[in-house]
Amino acid sequence: MKRIAVFTSGGDAPGMNACIRAVVRTGIKLGVEIIGIMRGYEGLIDGEMELLQSHSVSNIIQNGGTILQSARSERFKTVEGRKQAYEQLKNHNIDGIVAIGGDGTFSGASVFMKEFKIPIIGVPGTIDNDLYGTDYTIGYDTAINTAMWALDNIKDTANAHNRLFFVEVMGRDSGFIALRSGIATGAEAVLVPESPTEIDKLVEMLDENYRNKKRSSVIVVAEGDEIGGAFKIAEEVKKRNSIYDTKVTVLGHIQRGGRPTCMDRVLASRLGLEAVKALIDGVSGVMIGQIHNNISYTPFEKATKYHITVNPLLLEMVNILA
Ligand code: F6P
Repeated sequence: MKRIAVFTSGGDAPGMNACIRAVVRTGIKLGVEIIGIMRGYEGLIDGEMELLQSHSVSNIIQNGGTILQSARSERFKTVEGRKQAYEQLKNHNIDGIVAIGGDGTFSGASVFMKEFKIPIIGVPGTIDNDLYGTDYTIGYDTAINTAMWALDNIKDTANAHNRLFFVEVMGRDSGFIALRSGIATGAEAVLVPESPTEIDKLVEMLDENYRNKKRSSVIVVAEGDEIGGAFKIAEEVKKRNSIYDTKVTVLGHIQRGGRPTCMDRVLASRLGLEAVKALIDGVSGVMIGQIHNNISYTPFEKATKYHITVNPLLLEMVNILA
């Protein structure tokens, strides 16, 4: 391996910069050139790439977003797009790739590898934490802390006005952010895609709280809940119970940015370093992860096929402690 490319793809996540930095610095220490590809697979297809030096990644470890920018590429889903991407790799003499992203990134990588035999290692970067093969993904810890901060603020005002708040957090297919931030802020309920939401039960619980003189409540809703987002759930609850003065807040992309936490910076640095070492050692076609503090490799097929879901015992805990 003389030249390794790195890119970030899919939804950006705080800590991606720390990972890029680790890839560049490790590559240079091991005598490999690192090429940064802009905008994920989009930039690969268009040949938007440049050599990264040690100083190119100075002073970025603390920043959210990604210096390489990110994209979701429709063109890479086509054979023509992937052919063009391969031509670009050949023209730039690239021997391997570190792809930082989520399951969409790894599905693309898996197909690309089979077609063109180019070695690729995936690094899990998504705030959703829904990837099989790692305990935590880069960006998740920052996102749950951002959501926790926002929920704390909402609790203050909910209390001051005796209001019922429905707060929507990110998580199209998974409830990790909702569950963790909900537990940490003492939410009255957490609604996630992994478990059926029963509006009647929710209303019963709110009624009981009201009878017990609990006048304000915060319900955390993952955006992917099967009934709909926070607005839809608030509407359904209002139809059955109009005692509460109800408000809805959607946290949205505030959860995707911001300075990465210490946990995310360290995880990202370690995975970036290990990804380069693994590629040089001939490992490819896998997502690198960290399980029980040890480095693990999960084939792309497995990382994209299996989905980890929230722990039902923790969901139950929300109800017990509310
Ligand atoms: O996959 C990460 C994520 O933040 C999801 O939680 C969310 O549903 C999605 O990305 C939003 O993507 P976009 O920024 O492209 O709208």
